[in-house]
Amino acid sequence: MAQTPKRSKHAVVIYTRYERFWHWSQAALIFFLAFTGFNLHGSIKLLHFGTAVKLHTFAAIALILLWIFTTFWNFTTGNWKQFLPFFQIRTTDGKWSSAFLVFFIRLFAVMRYYAYGILKGEDHPHKKTLRRKQNALQGLAYLTFMIVIGPALWATGIIYLLFDLWNGVPNAGLYLTIIAFLHTAAAFAMIAFAVIHVYMTTTGKTPTHYIKSMITGVEDVELSEVEKAYLETEYPERMG
Ligand code: HEM
Repeated sequence: MAQTPKRSKHAVVIYTRYERFWHWSQAALIFFLAFTGFNLHGSIKLLHFGTAVKLHTFAAIALILLWIFTTFWNFTTGNWKQFLPFFQIRTTDGKWSSAFLVFFIRLFAVMRYYAYGILKGEDHPHKKTLRRKQNALQGLAYLTFMIVIGPALWATGIIYLLFDLWNGVPNAGLYLTIIAFLHTAAAFAMIAFAVIHVYMTTTGKTPTHYIKSMITGVEDVELSEVEKAYLETEYPERMG
C-alpha cells in the first residue's frame, strides 16, 4: 500500500517577486479604474469628465498589458495549475470523475468552514502546500475572476474605446448603451469580488496575516521531505 509522504511545516517564500508585483499593481489599477470609471458614470463627481476619460483609458491599457504579460508568465512557469484546483488532485484510480468528487468534497469543507467552523474557532480544512497554495473555493473564485469578470471588463471596455470605428453601424447608439451597461455591470461584479476578497484576507491567524504574506511572500506551508530537500539545495533563499 502506498504511504502518504511525511510532511512538516516550514516558513517558505511561496509568492515570488513577480507574483507580488502582479498582485499589488493589479489591485492598485483596479481601484483606480473603479474610481475613474464611477466618475465617468456620474456616481462620484471628483474629476472632470475629460480627465476621468483620459486617466481611465491609460490605466485600462496598463491593466490589459499586465494581464497579457501575467497570462504568459502563468503558462510558462506552470503557475496556471494553481487556478485549476481539481487538476492537482491525484486519485488512486486516476479517473477525472474521482478527482471532481474529491474537489467537491474539499469545496464543501471550505464552504462549511467559512459559514460555521470559523465561528467555532476550528482549524482551516485546507493545509497550504507548494502544489496547492489555494483552497478549492479560492481557486474557483480566482478562476471566475480570470475567465468571467476580467474578460467581461476588457472586452466591453475595448469595444467602448473603439466606438469611433463602429459608430456608423445602424443603431450604434443603442449598442453603445448596451455595452456601457454590460461594462458597468462587470465593474460592479469586480467591486463585489474585491470587497469579498479583502474580507477573506482578514480571516487568517491575525487580521493582517495574509496581507503580510502577500507583501513578504512568506507563508507557513506543509513540505514533504523531498520538497524540503529540493528547496534547501536549489532555492535556499526561499526557506524563510
Ligand atoms: C480592463 C480594461 C478596461 C477598459 C479597456 C475600459 C474602458 C472603458 C471605456 C472606454 C469607458 C468609457 C469612457 C468614455 O465614456 O469615453 C469606460 C467606462 C467605465 N469603466 Fe472601464 N475599462 C476597463 C476596466 C474597468 C474596471 C476594472 C472598472 C471598475 C472596476 C471599470 C469601470 C468603468 C465604469 C463604471 C465606467 C462608466 C460606464 C458608463 O457609465 O458609461 N472599467 N471604461
